[in-house]
This record gives sequence, structure tokens and C-alpha cells, in this order.
Amino acid sequence: MRIGIMSAMHEEINALIQTVKSPRTTRLGDRSYYEGDLWGTEAVLAFSRWGKVASASTVATLILKFEVDVVLFTGVAGAMDNALDIGDVVVGEAFYQHDMDARPIFKQFEIPLAGKSFFLASKKLNTKLLSATEAFLHSDAIDDDVKKTFAITAPKVITGAIASGDKFVSSNKDAERIKQALPQVKCVEMEGAAVAQVCAEYDVPFGIIRTISDSANHTADIDFMKFTQEVASKYSIGIIRNFLNA
Ligand code: ADE
Repeated sequence: MRIGIMSAMHEEINALIQTVKSPRTTRLGDRSYYEGDLWGTEAVLAFSRWGKVASASTVATLILKFEVDVVLFTGVAGAMDNALDIGDVVVGEAFYQHDMDARPIFKQFEIPLAGKSFFLASKKLNTKLLSATEAFLHSDAIDDDVKKTFAITAPKVITGAIASGDKFVSSNKDAERIKQALPQVKCVEMEGAAVAQVCAEYDVPFGIIRTISDSANHTADIDFMKFTQEVASKYSIGIIRNFLNA
């Protein structure tokens, strides 16, 4: 198996890149791709940058140029479900593009000419991701002082729908609009549904995990930057390591 691993931010994937044994680096389309052995698995790592276009082009390159068989994406998200706390993890099942709206020609959220409004992650990968995440959250891999800083007490993992769009959601008004239109959605981010669409089109199984960094309201930017720097990379490396049985 050759696995492609992506994140939207350098901070989120840097620790994993450092773990690859003598990585071969390729610059292509303004991105860096790091190929090598990750705990005994052949891997290609990339950070896509933010948003649907950036992540779609990066995942297409992973599939077409680096011939990965499987894609994993790890990153952070803003909570839509009130039951989610900062430090919880969502393993994405169905991926919607909350800013896709070609009405009146197509229904709201329908991907034009794809005939669907969402793309589904691989069930098999999700089962593994769920247990990898559970094992990570129940380990002592997250420092107590980090937990204290972010008021993380009993972090949990759930599965569910995720919505992506080219918008950092940082107001109650925008969050409410998404909640009303897509009540099944657990969290929002800016890449997952684009990665999901490209993987589905190339028939490549994918799994996407998102750690809740903020509540998608007026505090989102403050929580987000701090969380990404201090916590997200630890979650990524810990969960992927468990996933690869390393
Ligand atoms: N990623 C993390 N938090 C987010 C938010 N509030 N909106 C969009 N993407 C995010």
C-alpha cells in the first residue's frame, strides 16, 4: 500500500514529515511532496494550503503523479454540533460543499453534473481511523498542561457528516446558516469535501479526520491559531501512527 497523507497547514503535518526516513522531496505546482517510509509504510506527504481548490489540486497530484492507493487527510474544524468540545475528533462520513449553490439549475449543494450532494468516505478506513483515534484519545499522549490550556477533559471521537467551503466560519450568523441548511453536519472546514470529490472521481478510498479547534463563532480565530500550533500536530501524528499500527 502507498498512502497519501495531507493536511491544509504546515504545522499540522510537519511532525509527520520529520518522521519519514530520508524523504525524497519533489516540488510540483507550488507544493512540496515528501516520499518515503513512514513507520514501515510507503507514504507521500503534502500540505495542501487552505481551501477547496488548493486541496483538490494537491490530492489530484497525489493520485496521478505519486500513484497513492489511499488518501488520508488530517486537520482541524469548527464545531457545528453543540455536543462537540474543543479537542474532540470527527471522523467524516459524508462530505458536503456548503458553498455549492447552482440554483435554479441544480438543487442547493448538488455538485453540478455529478448528480449528488455529498461524497462518502471509505467505511473500511473509517473503522480503522475510529479505533486509531479512540486509542490515541485514551492514551496519555496529550500533555496535561495542553489539556488544561484548552479545557480538554474527556476528549471523544464521533463519526458524521462534515461540510466544507471557502469560508472560515467565525460568526454565529454564518454558523447558523449552515446549521439550518445542513442540520446533519457535525463540523465545518475548508478542504474535506473537495478531497472527497476528487478521490471519489478517481475511485481512490479516502478517510478524513478533523479535530475540533473552535466553535465556528467570534472566538474561532483566536482558538484556531493557538490550537493548531500547540495541539493539532500531536493529534495528527498520534492518530496516524496508531492507524499504521506503528
Ligand atoms: N477550520 C477550523 N476551524 C474552522 C472554522 N471555524 N471554519 C472553517 N474552517 C475551519
